[in-house]
Amino acid sequence: MIRKFLAGLAVMAGLSPVFSPVAALAQDDVERQIDALLAEMTLEEKIGQLTQYSSFWDATGPAPQGGEQEEKFDQVRDGRVGSMLNVVGRDEVRAVQELAVEDSRLGIPLIFGYDVVHGHKTIFPIPLAEAASWDLDLIEQSARIAAIEAAAQGLNWTFAPMVDISRDPRWGRVMEGAGEDPYLGSRVAVARVNGFQGDDLSADDTIAATIKHLAGYGFSEGGRDYNTVDVGSVTLHNIILPPFKAAIDEANVRTAMNSFNTLNGVPATGDSYLQRDLLKGAWGFDGFIVSDWGSGREMIDHGFAASERDAAELAIEAGSDMDMESYVYRDHLADLVESGDVDIALVDDAVRRVLRVKHELGLFADPYRYVDDPAQEDILMAPAHRAIALEVAKDSIVLLKNEDSLLPLKQGEKIALIGALAADKDTPLGNWRAAGESDTAVSVVEGFEAAGVDFTYREGAAVQVGEAGFPQPVVVNTSDRSGFDAAVAAARKADKVVLVLGEDGLQSGEGRSRSDIGLPGVQQELLEAVHAANPATVLVVMSGRPLILDWADANIPAIVQAWHLGHESGHAIASVVTGAHNPGGKLPMSFPRSVGQIPVYYNYLNTGRPGPLENEVFWSHYNDLPNTPLYPFGHGLSYTGFAYSELEIVQNAGAVTVSVMVENTGEMAGEEVVQLYLRDPVASVARPVRELKGFEKVMLVPGEITQVTFELSGAELGFYDQHGNFTVEYGAFEVYVGGSSMADLGASFTRTGD
Ligand code: BGC
Repeated sequence: MIRKFLAGLAVMAGLSPVFSPVAALAQDDVERQIDALLAEMTLEEKIGQLTQYSSFWDATGPAPQGGEQEEKFDQVRDGRVGSMLNVVGRDEVRAVQELAVEDSRLGIPLIFGYDVVHGHKTIFPIPLAEAASWDLDLIEQSARIAAIEAAAQGLNWTFAPMVDISRDPRWGRVMEGAGEDPYLGSRVAVARVNGFQGDDLSADDTIAATIKHLAGYGFSEGGRDYNTVDVGSVTLHNIILPPFKAAIDEANVRTAMNSFNTLNGVPATGDSYLQRDLLKGAWGFDGFIVSDWGSGREMIDHGFAASERDAAELAIEAGSDMDMESYVYRDHLADLVESGDVDIALVDDAVRRVLRVKHELGLFADPYRYVDDPAQEDILMAPAHRAIALEVAKDSIVLLKNEDSLLPLKQGEKIALIGALAADKDTPLGNWRAAGESDTAVSVVEGFEAAGVDFTYREGAAVQVGEAGFPQPVVVNTSDRSGFDAAVAAARKADKVVLVLGEDGLQSGEGRSRSDIGLPGVQQELLEAVHAANPATVLVVMSGRPLILDWADANIPAIVQAWHLGHESGHAIASVVTGAHNPGGKLPMSFPRSVGQIPVYYNYLNTGRPGPLENEVFWSHYNDLPNTPLYPFGHGLSYTGFAYSELEIVQNAGAVTVSVMVENTGEMAGEEVVQLYLRDPVASVARPVRELKGFEKVMLVPGEITQVTFELSGAELGFYDQHGNFTVEYGAFEVYVGGSSMADLGASFTRTGD
């Protein structure tokens, strides 16, 4: 198991709950009840609501050692704890909830949080992969199922979705986000929050979502996790913040998490501009903000707080409401209030926010609503959940290259299936696998068997040596080539080779930044040896991030990006390579040609010296590489072809309607993500060469032609200036529509006034 759950705690004997089950209250009544409760609470009890403990030590960061577990539960009984994380399971949650509800003076229920990121028990593709589906309905369903399963195990709150935009695949946490683009990132954020929270937060199968990490965490220098972030206000407002705002405005997300990093010199946990001025001020967010693990205390190491007391003061003043595992509120907030250094109104506001979300979840009406029915857990890994996991996995796969239609495999072909990852039942579960059990994914070997492929399997080379575990890093195999000969022999005998290479499931994720993002270990050598033996080689890449695939692109005829696809991985991959499913995924993040190009992203600024210029030196470029990525944002092939024509723009009273005809020109039914990009060539702030402003996924049978229409309003045409003000300007705009960010069908219009 990845997470160690609460151990050795007896289920408390059945005292009756202090709150009787009643229907969710109207918002005014909720606020009145909170007023009444606040009036009764001691300062210690208020601080308790702002304190969150984990049920185990050393989850994702340092925490004090010793026999303090019991002590924590005594504090729950004393009303000194408002939330627990990493307590999972009906019995476990009930046991701890009873300590709070039956034993504490006011019986305020705890809220139970957990990192339910890409599935709870049924594991879905990693979020970056799901974003490659561009299928918002499926993404919402994936989050919905994760919530249903998490709620069935007593959880009320997930620390997801991570909405950090990132342009740096060295950063291990790109696997957890939706990629590099703020528009796609916003749509995905809204879909995920809607999935987790559902229509009615008080239902017993919906959970509160968290947008994280506020803010800029994905822009850490050099892609090194937890590192410094320095970005200008134009990037902050136009690239980083939009998914946060969209999740608040459009999905009423109930919680946010701040981040470990400094942003322009200020640790996010102590950043009042982000938390008070923007989130709680201008954006009207009325949920609560939780710190990241220990991030309050870490402000001392940042050189921002002089002491833990100082850190507590800075955090509460900046608007960080709940303290996850850094104990600075627990240990210092009472003194800060009593000495007059912190206004009690700040504490009351934070407590009110926490209590509000607990009310909305229905925990006051019935603190055991998530744990009272033993049948709740029957839903875990339900066939219907796995069926959706398969749908999402298939749609997340991106066909990067397919020369001479090497794929799909043809009936009767003899296949050599090579690579340790092809037999791996663990890696596809990815990094944040919540309650997913190790070694339970369908491997590619199993997928091929089920699909009736005629194949021989050879490992070729192990990816890792020793046992991979959490949180230990994966130790990569850099010397064992003993399986090469057998793999090469199998390749020689086969009609085609399917070679599955890439990253172990725990090689990306938190704390797993890499400076070299090529195929790890001896896998590149294996690829070259196998290809030399049989050029009809298909490379299937499993990874939690874009890898450097320059050699493969130059030499291997077919490349499939298969990420870490969750439980149904092997079935999904088999279905794509055999052609049972026609791939339609599109990259949510650019694939660089080399690490030296990073950051490389599609929505860059033009510079004063754009190119390319032939036989010229003094333009913005590298002498040894093109500026373009290997595979651009939005790229993804299909077994059929799509043609775009008749791009038309109609302006009517300020609204802009763009329409285009899309035709399936091939011989197989297929899905295409029709993408609309905008350019504002002259503006008061330099604007990107292209920005995604709309997309629609269409399914077309061979020969079918359809019209796709997009509406552009001020929201799409405008931008944030360098002072963070949103502005919509007049003048010319260019529009490009097509199947990737390189779309070449263009038209323009002029905005002259509404
Ligand atoms: C991560 C958060 C996560 C938390 C709790 C931290 O290390 O940065 O994203 O929610 O741990 O597990």
